[in-house]
Amino acid sequence: MSTASVDDEALNQTLSEARELRDEFQRFLHEYEFGMREIETKISILRDEFAHHHSYNPIEHVKSRVKTPDSIVEKVARRGVEPDFASIRTHITDIAGVRVTCSFVADVYRLFDLLAAQDDITVRIVKDYIAAPKPNGYRSLHAILEVPVFLSSGPIAVPVEVQFRTIAMDFWASLEHKIHYKFQGQVPPRLVDDLTAAADAATELDERMERLHREAHSPLAALAPIIEV
Ligand code: GTP
Ligand code: MG
Repeated sequence: MSTASVDDEALNQTLSEARELRDEFQRFLHEYEFGMREIETKISILRDEFAHHHSYNPIEHVKSRVKTPDSIVEKVARRGVEPDFASIRTHITDIAGVRVTCSFVADVYRLFDLLAAQDDITVRIVKDYIAAPKPNGYRSLHAILEVPVFLSSGPIAVPVEVQFRTIAMDFWASLEHKIHYKFQGQVPPRLVDDLTAAADAATELDERMERLHREAHSPLAALAPIIEV
């Protein structure tokens, strides 16, 4: 056999291994996309049911994403996770992410409870940064929910990170994220203090808005026009 044909064979072998890895990675990412879609469907059913039967919509908006391959690789390296699919599946639980923005704090907990109570959902982890905000003021309710996905090869359980928050929490988190990014994590102390103060203001706004909402919907509010006459 000539040297050229040995080289060709080695190259073909490498290419076919690379293709296999690419296909496996695509299948791996698909699982998360399907899990994410299951959760999105559950949320949109709850939203429609609320709108039609309770004349109330507790959800302002929903955003979803599957982590990019680059971002998965970066997190695997940062966390020191073994770079194989089984370890990544076990240790990286935010590959599929859904963010649910609600009107009020009560809606955040209500939606979480409604999802958690569904028979096919397993709650793996809950981090309540509303009850215990991060030191910088970050607030949201995070949950890793495991949902079954039915593939042609059988069912698999897929973890999806769901972040529930109010509009005020979302506004704050998105600004904080931009500032963090702009200063590459080295945010000047004065800005850090200002951000934390802004988080307190957002908490206060949430409380006031919820109080107003309750007052407007209390049975006494319905009597108000009659009383005034
Ligand atoms: P990650 O490695 O970032 O996934 O953190 P973690 O595994 O410790 O999880 P945690 O629940 O603390 O945060 C997960 C996600 O919540 C992040 O990827 C962000 O989307 C969001 N988050 C957490 N902390 C902050 C924060 O201080 N500011 C902002 N803007 N977002 C945050
Ligand atoms: Mg994350």
